[in-house]
Amino acid sequence: MTDSLTIRRPDDWHVHLRDGAMLEAVAGHTARQFARAIVMPNLTPPVTTVAAGEAYRQRIMAALPAGADFTPLMTCYLTDNTDPEEVRRGFQQGVFTACKLYPAGATTNSDSGVTDIANIRGVLEVMAEIGMVLCVHGEVTSADIDIFDREAVFIERILKPLIAELPQLKVVFEHITTSEAVDFVTGAPDNVAATITPQHLHINRNAMLVGGIRPHAYCLPVAKREAHRLALRKAATSGSSKFFLGTDSAPHAREAKESACGCAGIFNAPFALESYLAVFEEEGAIEHFEGFASLHGPRFYGLPVNEAQVTLEKVETQVPAALPGPDTQLVPFHAGESLRWRFVG
Ligand code: DOR
Ligand code: ZN
Repeated sequence: MTDSLTIRRPDDWHVHLRDGAMLEAVAGHTARQFARAIVMPNLTPPVTTVAAGEAYRQRIMAALPAGADFTPLMTCYLTDNTDPEEVRRGFQQGVFTACKLYPAGATTNSDSGVTDIANIRGVLEVMAEIGMVLCVHGEVTSADIDIFDREAVFIERILKPLIAELPQLKVVFEHITTSEAVDFVTGAPDNVAATITPQHLHINRNAMLVGGIRPHAYCLPVAKREAHRLALRKAATSGSSKFFLGTDSAPHAREAKESACGCAGIFNAPFALESYLAVFEEEGAIEHFEGFASLHGPRFYGLPVNEAQVTLEKVETQVPAALPGPDTQLVPFHAGESLRWRFVG
């Protein structure tokens, strides 16, 4: 008999769906596995207004394959000049589910991000008042801080004071990569949670740097030492409702990654659930998979859980070396490997 696992349909609480031809190429992968997704606003130009958020939502809906059952949850890109009333209006009209804080210069298309958190104090006060979630790219950007330390320093310099000053604000510390982040979120009050990507559960920095430089293992925040990966696996599979699924799937054209200055981002949407489930199986924690994938996220966001179900079968799945992109190829996470589970639908 084939082993199989049926759970409530999951959601992806952090994804980059891009725009234009890239959106057309990737939207179906996320919509196939997930009912909803928190869609990142780091387009060029970034999504900073209610009108831009609504227009982007409509482009996503138009890019979905026929019959897809998928709801994009839109986010507002915060800048030094974001008007708190624009954020309030976007939330109250149901256009924006959350706001995204990119420290300026931290990652792809973050140049218009926030240069000093004091500049968005008024926005954060309104968000705390209306119960709107702040999604945080948690890395400092100072040139004097080593890239492997940027997340841990962000906790001390930015997150701890922020949470002390605005204890009502709901904060998702996104794509955490360190044991310091696990410890911080575990010890923080209920209004603080974290997402964890598949890649940070599977690979450490050796995967990127040993035996040659591997651009398809490069994302931001960058993968850290093995001890951090083990702490993340423990947190994700612990059953704690503070940790939930967020793929950070971030497609770039193959030639943009395989370059003298390669882009950050791992395209993991096509086999996301198979990738996560492998980790839960290896950790002997399959009973906690549904919580991580389908229950903790909606609970934190105050949204209903999905009624539909999905099934994964224990059947070996071959991940292709590349998938079609817009006039290019997209190299997926686990390219050329086989995974032990297969998403059925
Ligand atoms: O690796 C990443 N890629 N990290 C980010 O924060 C942004 C993303 C992208 O947009 O490519
Ligand atoms: Zn991201």
